[in-house]
Amino acid sequence: MVKIAPSVLAADFNCLYEEIKRVESEADLLHFDIMDGQFVPDITFGPVVIASLRDKFNLPFEGHLMVANPTQWIVPFARAGCNIITIHRESCGDPHQLIALMREKGVKAGVALNPDTSLDSLENILSEIYLVLIMTVNPGFVGQSFIREVLPKIRNLRQVREEKSLSFEIAVDGGINEETAGEVVEAGASVLVAGTAIFHAPDPQKALLKLKEAGSGSKDSAEKNRS
Ligand code: DX5
Ligand code: ZN
Repeated sequence: MVKIAPSVLAADFNCLYEEIKRVESEADLLHFDIMDGQFVPDITFGPVVIASLRDKFNLPFEGHLMVANPTQWIVPFARAGCNIITIHRESCGDPHQLIALMREKGVKAGVALNPDTSLDSLENILSEIYLVLIMTVNPGFVGQSFIREVLPKIRNLRQVREEKSLSFEIAVDGGINEETAGEVVEAGASVLVAGTAIFHAPDPQKALLKLKEAGSGSKDSAEKNRS
């Protein structure tokens, strides 16, 4: 069953707690887009925001670090309560040290790849990580269009995972909606990150369930798995 990770960046910050509460029961984890104004133009959440929400929700928190210097931020976001921290391969120099630091802090390690970054950059680290986040938009903003050219990379990653008998999650982030969910799951995605499609919908919980159904191929299987 595909997992759904609502991307909190697309929620209404005027009532963040209520927005997340609306999707909590059907979500599998919460995805927080952490931007530093350097790796991407915008600035979003700091650890204090994560910490203030942490004990209000019974879900894993993933911090997607779109930052120029991830070394600086792993410990603060681990302390704030992120269960998974995803660093960008483009900004992490030697990923082994950062993955080791995450493990030491009791955090599951994720590595994200921009649309133009090749799978070769993950060589030698796949066995150490919990999740690969394949970006299907260029990072920085909610509401962008899905880049279909990334689909072969998802397929290739699934094949590599099979060949190496590994079990990391394949997460996909950017432009995921009812139309694209089926395509990315068919290609190999096991986690769908979605912002606009969930939080900009009139009924976010219903929208989340529709994504789960679209990703699971049939309404029946989504219902069956919920019961
Ligand atoms: C983009 C972020 C995404 C974004 C997804 O930089 O990493 O998580 O919030 O938003 P949608 O689903 O609207 O593309
Ligand atoms: Zn993200």
